[in-house]
Amino acid sequence: MIQMFSVSKTYPNQITVFSDLDLEVTTGEFVFIEGRSGSGKSTLIRILFGAEKPTSGEVIVNRIRLTQPGFKKVYQLRKMMGIISPDFKLLRDRNVGENLAFALEVTGHPLKEIKEKVSEILGKIGLAEREKDSILSLSAGEQQRVTIARALVKDPSLILADEPTSILDDEMTARVMEIFTEFHQRGTTIVVATQDNQLIQHHPHHRVISLSGGKAGEAESNEEVKSIECSLS
Ligand SMILES: Nc1ncnc2c1ncn2[C@@H]1O[C@H](COP(=O)(O)OP(=O)(O)OP(=O)(O)O)[C@@H](O)[C@H]1O
Ligand SMILES: [Mg+2]
Repeated sequence: MIQMFSVSKTYPNQITVFSDLDLEVTTGEFVFIEGRSGSGKSTLIRILFGAEKPTSGEVIVNRIRLTQPGFKKVYQLRKMMGIISPDFKLLRDRNVGENLAFALEVTGHPLKEIKEKVSEILGKIGLAEREKDSILSLSAGEQQRVTIARALVKDPSLILADEPTSILDDEMTARVMEIFTEFHQRGTTIVVATQDNQLIQHHPHHRVISLSGGKAGEAESNEEVKSIECSLS
């Protein structure tokens, strides 16, 4: 599902996040990406959904080569993905149900099916009663759950989740992980970036990809600091 070959990423401010990163995630796998704050988890996830371009190297997702020159099929790529990003990017002028429905309308699902899917996922994530409520009336944790529901309602083949449970309580975190597990059992590939070691320890059967290394050029010198190593365990 995911192949990264010798991927390097240096931001314009000379911060080198990775160099020569190789990574493979098989279809149907559930993997965690862990690493300290600033180790590059979010950068890696953003590269995978085409929001960030690597400086060099190859990135292939679902057989689509994102790094081919002039790549313009981000929209097509994202159709099969459920993206959960830390900045929720919810539509504030639409209610909860509409935010979810929008994710399906753009891919042309029939209205009846949209309604059923929206109700089903909101029920699973404990927000059935909030379907008609404005996004602005929700707590931060509830908004995070809407973001998760919006990613899942599409029934994606690949879930890319960046700190999906960062502001949820233990009970809701466990619920979200149960829902991810249901998707995984149906064959969905899942990548969860997290700093939460407890979350990882609770799921010992999933592979953990560790990002570690220095931040580049942060102090006075602009020298390139050792890139991130990717250790697979
Ligand atoms: N748009 C950007 N421009 C410049 N540097 C950036 C940008 N985004 C991230 N960085 C830098 O790249 C490095 C990796 O950041 P990233 O957000 O990927 O880390 P992270 O592992 O997700 O951290 P956290 O756990 O805090 O979310 C950091 O040193 C960060 O300052
Ligand atoms: Mg991050």
